[in-house]
Amino acid sequence: MSNSSNINFDFKNKTAVITGGAQGIGFTITQKFLAAGARVSIWDFSEAALATAKAELGQYAAQLHTTKVDVGNRDSVGAAAASLPWAVDILVNNAGITRDKSFAKMAPEDWDAVISTNLTGLFNVTKALFEKFNATSLHKRIVNISSVVGLYGNFGQTNYAAAKAGVIGMTKTWGKELGRKGYTVNAVAPGFIATAMTKQMPKETLDQMAGKVPVARLGETDDIANAVMFLSSEQASYINATVISVDGGIVL
Ligand SMILES: NC(=O)c1ccc[n+]([C@@H]2O[C@H](COP(=O)([O-])OP(=O)(O)OC[C@H]3O[C@@H](n4cnc5c(N)ncnc54)[C@H](O)[C@@H]3O)[C@@H](O)[C@H]2O)c1
Repeated sequence: MSNSSNINFDFKNKTAVITGGAQGIGFTITQKFLAAGARVSIWDFSEAALATAKAELGQYAAQLHTTKVDVGNRDSVGAAAASLPWAVDILVNNAGITRDKSFAKMAPEDWDAVISTNLTGLFNVTKALFEKFNATSLHKRIVNISSVVGLYGNFGQTNYAAAKAGVIGMTKTWGKELGRKGYTVNAVAPGFIATAMTKQMPKETLDQMAGKVPVARLGETDDIANAVMFLSSEQASYINATVISVDGGIVL
């Protein structure tokens, strides 16, 4: 059983920017922050997903800002940062894509696309928002979404594994550099989570994956969002520059 109930965090008067927040894991993170009283700015590439998310989150309209952005494109990210109406307390770098192929078949374009979104995207967004963080706050939070694949590698994911391992390197470095400036910077490494991304995989592959998880199920978006909420909370102020695996103990 997954845990879809809300932990009682209070994020009133906090602003969170969630990249890729219009769908999947990012959307659940967005919902939870809004429900906990935060203002949320969703930065997402998909106009259609942004429109659907906005409609679904209608009750939170006063707390919600959305912008279409390609995290891999610096001009687009710069424009999104300029449009932000609030100072930032929490940044969740969640936007990500896959272009899976065995190394032998992987085209340079597959490499470039995944590195651009999943690795350079985090640099672009964090750089553009760095001056927009709430300067006086001692509870600034950056949570980067990596993957179990960044820790262990995975067949068919040279590009994705490299990007997600890079995210861990960036996280540890930023945690060291920014800790004394009132930030904590951590990564969450999800296992296999039921979202649109995993739904593209054949059912037999998904069943096989579930069979490798000691808790005997794929993860839910709630499982990841709960970890992100905790790391973003004041209660997690001594957790810095680390990676939390949320993967049911998967053995790859
Ligand atoms: N689903 C999993 O099993 C799983 C496992 C480990 C890690 N992750 C990571 O979790 C994160 C979220 O994955 P998900 O499964 O929710 O994916 P998803 O495809 O359901 O959602 C990703 C969102 O990111 C947006 N996005 C994609 N490229 C973008 C870009 N260039 N600029 C801005 N937005 C962009 C998409 O429009 C979409 O709304 C990703 O970083 C992914 O790598 C997912």
